[in-house]
Amino acid sequence: MPLHIVRNDITQMKVDAIVNAANETLLGGGGVDGAIHRAAGPGLLAECRTLNGCRTGEAKVTGAYRLPCRYVIHTVGPIWRGGLFGERQKLISCYRTSLSAAEAHRCETVAFPLISSGVYGYPKDKALRVAVDTISDFLSDHEMTVYLVIFDKASFQIGERLFRSIESYIDDHYAAAHEDSREVQRSRILQAEQSYSFKPTEEDAAAPFPKEKPSKISDTPKAAPAAKPFPGSRTVAGGAALFPEPASALAPHFGAAASLEEALRRIDESFSEMLLRKIDERGMTDAQCYKKANIDRKLFSKIRNDRLYRPSKPTVLAFAIALELPLEETKDMLMKAGFALSHSSRFDIIVEYFISKGNYNIFEINEALFAFDQNLLGA
Ligand code: APR
Repeated sequence: MPLHIVRNDITQMKVDAIVNAANETLLGGGGVDGAIHRAAGPGLLAECRTLNGCRTGEAKVTGAYRLPCRYVIHTVGPIWRGGLFGERQKLISCYRTSLSAAEAHRCETVAFPLISSGVYGYPKDKALRVAVDTISDFLSDHEMTVYLVIFDKASFQIGERLFRSIESYIDDHYAAAHEDSREVQRSRILQAEQSYSFKPTEEDAAAPFPKEKPSKISDTPKAAPAAKPFPGSRTVAGGAALFPEPASALAPHFGAAASLEEALRRIDESFSEMLLRKIDERGMTDAQCYKKANIDRKLFSKIRNDRLYRPSKPTVLAFAIALELPLEETKDMLMKAGFALSHSSRFDIIVEYFISKGNYNIFEINEALFAFDQNLLGA
């Protein structure tokens, strides 16, 4: 996942370079600057003295001394004065110049603090927005893994309005999934079993399979879950399902599958095949898709080269977001990987919230997931 948001102390990060939120003297200070100098030891200050300071928005590189990384990239963020003095542009420049310096030093992994969001008073949600937008913009055409390191939860804030809106969406949906008492839940499960478990009559059991080979449901590769019989379908011994219904009855399950054959073919389609089909249908390149999904190239090529690859749920959802799939197709893609969206999971509800709002910005979704202490989308 090219952009991670993590809770940590940046001086502990084992990466190629960490970025320091310094001041223009480069002679140390409090906050993250003080922490980095303390952890690096006196050698860092000695080298900083030779640099002759650093202007706001610019970046300079030193060694890392006792830190578990190779370089320290010192940048100086803007002091917040209300937002009318070019603070945003200067903050963007901090991330851009630091990323360029990291690239020039052949760094593959870089860790940033939330620059200017402490002593310099930049509003935390605005500082986060600038950080995520600038870093993700850089990653759209560079291969690098970047960590945005959040030291304390208080220094992490998404927009208040967005936070409240997600919170009430969770309350509405999470509660609904939990309002059933145990009895009601048990009777629901019983009902579902009765309506689906079809006892084939003698005649059904003897009925010849459709002309083509028995439906591949029974020999679906182990990687995918046995498909649930669809309402109106009949399962006979051996798991093969007969679909007496016209393909149209299957449409809700397979989108507008024009024919029964196409519907059956989609049953067999693996997650990986559906992903590649959707990339082609959207006219995207592979790289555009996995970058938009915040997935690294290596993982994508594993999925691409193994038709039965079993991805994690966050990975499936990351691709559904990148492809901007509507909710039903997202559920279909999840099902092919053996998952379902659940209203008992805050993670699922938050992702569903963004899809329902038509917001497919994976970085914004990850910020929200992070704010609600959930795993992030992507590998
Ligand atoms: N690891 C990661 N992040 C940290 C750490 C740490 N060890 N310590 C603090 N932070 C976070 C803060 O919570 C804040 O979100 O870094 C972010 C930036 O805060 P500051 O360190 O105060 O930096 P900034 O707001 O850019 O102000 C820079 O402060 O320390 C002085 O010398 C520095 O004058 C400069 C000014």
